Amino acid sequence: MDISSILQGGYQHPLSRSWQAQRQLTKEMLMYPIFITDDPDASDIIASLPNQRRWGINKLQGFLDPLIRKGLRSVILFGVPLKCVKDERGTPADDTEGPVISAIRLLRDLYPSLYIACDVCLCEYTSHGHCGVLRTDGTIEPEPSVARIAEVALNYAKAGAHCVAPSDMMDGRIKAIKRALIDGGYGNRCTLMSYSAKFASGLYGPFRDAAGSAPSFGDRKCYQLPPAAKGLACRAIQRDVGEGADIIMVKPALPYLDIISHASRLAPDHPLACYQVSGEFAMVHAGANAGVYELRTMAFETVESMIRAGATLILTYFTPEFLDWLEV
Ligand code: PBG
Ligand code: ZN
Repeated sequence: MDISSILQGGYQHPLSRSWQAQRQLTKEMLMYPIFITDDPDASDIIASLPNQRRWGINKLQGFLDPLIRKGLRSVILFGVPLKCVKDERGTPADDTEGPVISAIRLLRDLYPSLYIACDVCLCEYTSHGHCGVLRTDGTIEPEPSVARIAEVALNYAKAGAHCVAPSDMMDGRIKAIKRALIDGGYGNRCTLMSYSAKFASGLYGPFRDAAGSAPSFGDRKCYQLPPAAKGLACRAIQRDVGEGADIIMVKPALPYLDIISHASRLAPDHPLACYQVSGEFAMVHAGANAGVYELRTMAFETVESMIRAGATLILTYFTPEFLDWLEV
């Protein structure tokens, strides 16, 4: 055999296998999505999202203490209002007594070293379940949508969020949020993570169950990207870089590894996040339950593929497991 044919000598040991990765998965690359509801004592199982719950504010400490001890570094909060009155403009989103703002304050207080990001969207809080403000004909009205989303983002920053992450996909919202943060005195106190390339995916089902955020009519195809739209994804990423995003995100992750890889070349000077969304997570669990593979093997393989593609930050419901599985 030719010398150049022999590769196996380079990865014959667990340590040399690990050296073959350009970057290693570490605990600090993980951000854990958590659902916070407005019943303070809630600890509700979410049927379609394995091992995840809707938490009430009074239960957060019991839930998070053990994870913090295992090395949890960051969370992203999603509000799940079950009791409030929803309206056209999503008024409850930044209710100062609502679950998200209460949780930001509590977590800042309890865990000084925990990084707290907040998803910013209106769909959980609007009567129609869409991510923006609608005209009477049911189409999105961009200006009031963006103005309202920027207002909510600033209020999360004021409550103490380290990062605001708009997932609405309205045109122009990154610029509007950045402006609002700067004018409000938070330009240097709050990170802006854009869900830049967010596709209209079939993989959000368990999340919509969890958050009660399915649209009451129509779908989100007017603002989320068509799955085949690589060009639009590239334009959205470049636009958001230009509008002041500090972190770029691709979502979902596994069916869009090519977009992650492309994003890492388009925005090489920005951290690049990807979201292993609810349906991806449920798929990995379902396959494991069906005996197709081991859960742990597949959790690693999916997340390591995202890192290989170029992601530097991963939002995943597997975070608690990885805190057990990883040394650092
Ligand atoms: C809402 C939002 C969604 C997710 C995050 N924010 C769902 C949607 O767009 O309908 C999905 C997250 C997941 O599936 O885990 N703006
Ligand atoms: Zn939304």
